[in-house]
Amino acid sequence: MTEKIYIFDTTLRDGEQSPGASMNLEEKIQIAEVLADMKVDIIEAGFPIASNGDFEAVSEISKNIKGSTICGLARAKIGDIERAWDAVRHAESPRIHTFIATSPIHMKYKLMKNESEVLDSIKNTVSYARNLCPNIEWSCEDGGRSNLDFLYRCIELAISCGASTINIPDTVGFTVPSEFGSIFKSVKNNVTNIDKAILSSHTHNDLGLAVANSIAAIQEGARQVECTINGLGERAGNAALEEIVMALKVKKDLIPFHTDIKTESITKISRLVSSITGFSVQPNKAIVGANAFAHEAGIHQDGMLKNAETYEIMSPETIGLSQSSLVLGKHSGRHAFSKKLKELGHELGDNALMELFGRFKDLADRKKEIFDEDLLALAGDQSASYNEHIKFVSLQVNAGSIEKHQANLSIQMLNEKKITISQGNGPVDATFNAIKELTDTNFSLKLYQVHAITAGTDAQGEVTVRLEDELLFSQAKGSDPDIIVASAKAYINALNKLIFKKTRSTNKKVSELKIEGV
Ligand code: KIV
Ligand code: ZN
Repeated sequence: MTEKIYIFDTTLRDGEQSPGASMNLEEKIQIAEVLADMKVDIIEAGFPIASNGDFEAVSEISKNIKGSTICGLARAKIGDIERAWDAVRHAESPRIHTFIATSPIHMKYKLMKNESEVLDSIKNTVSYARNLCPNIEWSCEDGGRSNLDFLYRCIELAISCGASTINIPDTVGFTVPSEFGSIFKSVKNNVTNIDKAILSSHTHNDLGLAVANSIAAIQEGARQVECTINGLGERAGNAALEEIVMALKVKKDLIPFHTDIKTESITKISRLVSSITGFSVQPNKAIVGANAFAHEAGIHQDGMLKNAETYEIMSPETIGLSQSSLVLGKHSGRHAFSKKLKELGHELGDNALMELFGRFKDLADRKKEIFDEDLLALAGDQSASYNEHIKFVSLQVNAGSIEKHQANLSIQMLNEKKITISQGNGPVDATFNAIKELTDTNFSLKLYQVHAITAGTDAQGEVTVRLEDELLFSQAKGSDPDIIVASAKAYINALNKLIFKKTRSTNKKVSELKIEGV
């Protein structure tokens, strides 16, 4: 048996730090359930000091999710560590992850501390955390740009104060694989007590090298890798879990390690994270992109028909990808519907299931064939509607080349029904003007994207909208066989997410917010 690589997923923490990607409590729990089910070893559920919402998410995940270690992030501050412990202490296996920057540039400009002050801080905070929690991870933020001799001293101290995992982040995605790998090699050779801890890698994708750097770290001694689903994360993202796990599986002869991940759940979790965050996966993305197993060139198709291994280095079934199947029709019952949803990663309570079943029946009346993708889009719309303050009710538009473009929109805002007629330069513009008028908001629209979810002229359109104000972004999707209705839903979902983010960042209720009209 080969040595195991522990998979530490930080989709709910570093992933959520992607500009525009916010998730509410129900969504985070839904993702954590699938992560635990696919045997992720450690789930970093959030940064409890960051807001009441983060704290609540980490504690609910700690109380409800079994089988994985649940971790909360904390800066090198006693208040952060106490808050993280309060949130994770309910878990079957809790972990506190505390960090401080160790690179000259971060210490000088961000922390305004010298080396000896940083060492003092490591000593105080790691020992404090260890007195609360038996499982402590310590990270040297910007480790990729830190001075090695100083790094050895920091790591040795963190281990002697009780850290059992030492994580070296390439915080700004600056290193190349040979360089990042050699940091691990040097740490292994120069830190005297390194055998008392597991080494971990945490990489960012600014140069597109996050996964390659993680593999280099494993080859030089890392036994934990930190990663996110679909490579979600700050700026260009983190290393993608599915890419690391599949690289280890496909290249096991050359890189003799294994993970416990149930790879058949990769497609399910990828789609779930994409539908919840509103971040589409690029078609040519490794492992989970729509084209990752598609063969266009005739010569490739010919080879595939003769033997799939001519052009496929792994089978689509290994990542749980099956052909788009005709799943249900308008006569399907609630039981079959709930079973199919569960297979796709959406396990819903009775009320949410009944509501979604109603939406499915409406869709089945309008669209002959319902595919997996249609159900995922419906479920995505539904999860976007948890805690919604603005609800789409109905829309009638005038489009075409003869009459004025006009939208007659009805929405519900906190129990009040509102209706207006607006005009615009095209039906989408008229619809968005109507939403802005009714909600008295005017966020800047940074992205508007439409694509067909399946083939056929009666396919549902899926629209992605990204809104922004001076401080926050939000991105969301909406789907419907009518693309103007899908556009209205996507805009309203993005607005609801932005409101949710504002309540979370200010720790205020919606009624106390100064977003006009809300
Ligand atoms: O990128 C980074 O340095 C981090 C740390 C908090 C681990 O995310
Ligand atoms: Zn990070």
